[in-house]
Amino acid sequence: HRVVLLFGGRSSEHSISCATAGGVLAAIDRDRFEVIPVGITRDGAFVLVEDDPARFALDPEHLPEVVDNGTRVRWPESAATRELRVQDASGERSLGDVDVVFPILHGRFGEDGTIQGLFELIGLPYVGNGVLASAIGMDKHVTKSMLDAAGIAVAPWVTISRRDWAGERRDLWHRRAKALGLPAFVKPARAGSSVGVTKVSDWSELDRALEIAFAEDDRALVESAVVGREIECGVLEDPAGGAPRVSVAGEVVVTGRDFYDFEAKYLGADGVDLVCPTELGEGERFELERIAQQAFEAIGGEGLARVDVFLSGEGFVVNEVNTMPGFTPISMFPTCWLNSGLSYPELISELVDSGIA
Ligand code: DAL
Ligand code: MG
Repeated sequence: HRVVLLFGGRSSEHSISCATAGGVLAAIDRDRFEVIPVGITRDGAFVLVEDDPARFALDPEHLPEVVDNGTRVRWPESAATRELRVQDASGERSLGDVDVVFPILHGRFGEDGTIQGLFELIGLPYVGNGVLASAIGMDKHVTKSMLDAAGIAVAPWVTISRRDWAGERRDLWHRRAKALGLPAFVKPARAGSSVGVTKVSDWSELDRALEIAFAEDDRALVESAVVGREIECGVLEDPAGGAPRVSVAGEVVVTGRDFYDFEAKYLGADGVDLVCPTELGEGERFELERIAQQAFEAIGGEGLARVDVFLSGEGFVVNEVNTMPGFTPISMFPTCWLNSGLSYPELISELVDSGIA
């Protein structure tokens, strides 16, 4: 099968997507799949990239990125064809018919339903969540609203728009936020990898925290910090159409740090350990599986997701549903599956197969 591996993109998680691509290029089963690596530059140009996993390793000193090499990939011009073409200095040529696109894009313009919409329009099969689930999962306000409506516990929150905060009723929003209690987290509605997220321990910090969040999106959430263990698990659609499968649980253990921020996630900063599998009681394991399935189904999930939760004194509270979780070989999502009996290359094969129509 011919697979387009699509990565990079216009979001603040461009480099993380490139690091994921490096991992997938190194591990994908070459006997089964012919890979066409297509990068999206930060400006949104689709370029044909050299098939070299080493170029996209996650180096904290120099985060990987897609550079514009002057090529331009042309998607099929109608739903009647699956022919991919590329234009370069020597003209335009065919790359052959594509069976499936694997968009390992994080953040906006990739994990938010926009690129999924393009593939729906031109009739190209793709891996993972569809337009709606991607759009829901991308937006923390909408995700929480959907989960809440499905009866799934979420942390109390207030969503504030840039206009609310600049307007006459700012005091009202200030009071609503304060009612949540401290500490609180301030997050952009649509971002990932903790970009734009601030932990607030004193309300005098709220203004600055919102400013940081508004740099990423026009709406921000102020959320009560949940006291409890931070637990994540993988979800995979069952190819046979049964209930989604849930991996063993991993735990983010934060010791010498404020929270699991971008530096701890990708830059090797100390103070956070990932433990997988983590210890849970039998009742807790069962409950987590049920909640992860419910959360996946509440957003209309397809293919895959990573469900992030807190285990508080009152049980599980869902933090978010990531519709294209970080996917480097050391990321939590593949690690959880590895400990559930699915190796990294097997996981990739299974996902690609799930997208082939
Ligand atoms: N947004 C990052 C990639 C994650 O959820 O893993
Ligand atoms: Mg998370």
